Amino acid sequence: MATVYAVANQKGGVAKSTTALTVAAALTERGLAVLTVDADPQACLTFGLGYDPDGLQPTLHDVLAGDTPLAQSIRQHPETDLAPSSIDLAGGEVALLQRTGREFLLKGELAGVAVSYDAIVIDCPPSLGVLTVSALTAADHVVIPIQCETLSHRGVGQLLETIADVRKLTNPDLGIAGFVATMYDGRTRHGRAVLADVQQRYGLELLAPPVRKSVRFAEAPHEGVSILRYDDRVPGAAAYRILAARLAGLVIDPAWWEAAGTTNA
Ligand SMILES: Nc1ncnc2c1ncn2[C@@H]1O[C@H](COP(=O)(O)OP(=O)(O)OP(=O)(O)O)[C@@H](O)[C@H]1O
Ligand SMILES: [Mg+2]
Repeated sequence: MATVYAVANQKGGVAKSTTALTVAAALTERGLAVLTVDADPQACLTFGLGYDPDGLQPTLHDVLAGDTPLAQSIRQHPETDLAPSSIDLAGGEVALLQRTGREFLLKGELAGVAVSYDAIVIDCPPSLGVLTVSALTAADHVVIPIQCETLSHRGVGQLLETIADVRKLTNPDLGIAGFVATMYDGRTRHGRAVLADVQQRYGLELLAPPVRKSVRFAEAPHEGVSILRYDDRVPGAAAYRILAARLAGLVIDPAWWEAAGTTNA
């Protein structure tokens, strides 16, 4: 049965979709069978795997707002299977609000395919609405991407409160795997100070070396592949491979972590 990870942070543009896609690709590299679920109406993950979200059907919208089984929506990509999204899901979110047990619909759908996968990675939208709550309800663990810049982590407390509510109401077993520092510029004292502050303030575990900034990350989606295929010489690629190894339960050799660029990143 698959372990389910929700990549969540209601702050926009902190590299949730990049993290979901890249860690999925890195888990596939390790030989795991991986499904990514695009739970964001913006469909960036779907686009990043080379699909045009405007022309796709069925998508998660048809699964959650209609009666298409999730299995029927799944596409095969060399780096990960994908349950795609489309802008229709924005309307679907409203339709979902009318449905009884709405928070559990995604969990139920994933249960139907979980035997076919080792890991399922859900990319959440930048809000704490019904789609994110559905993902948190379906997940075993949350992975929180945080951009280590001033004010960027101000919403993390609110996310942790939502996670506490989900534990109380819909998913008592939800765990927090930890956080990933994204778009990191460790050359500045500022970046390092914010990283330390996030660790201390929220008591979250840093899961991998900070993922350094590189324009290559913004280029990869246009080729429909992850950074691991597009250009895995960028240090962030190594950081995501460590994240995947960590989620797969491996003990990380400190030398590997070091080589991936923690020091003076
Ligand atoms: N390490 C990085 N270095 C430079 N750019 C990055 C890095 N990681 C992600 N990006 C870029 O930052 C932008 C935002 O990333 P992404 O779409 O993954 O964030 P998100 O949190 O999913 O956004 P949203 O909240 O809109 O869903 C994208 O253009 C992406 O290519
Ligand atoms: Mg996104």
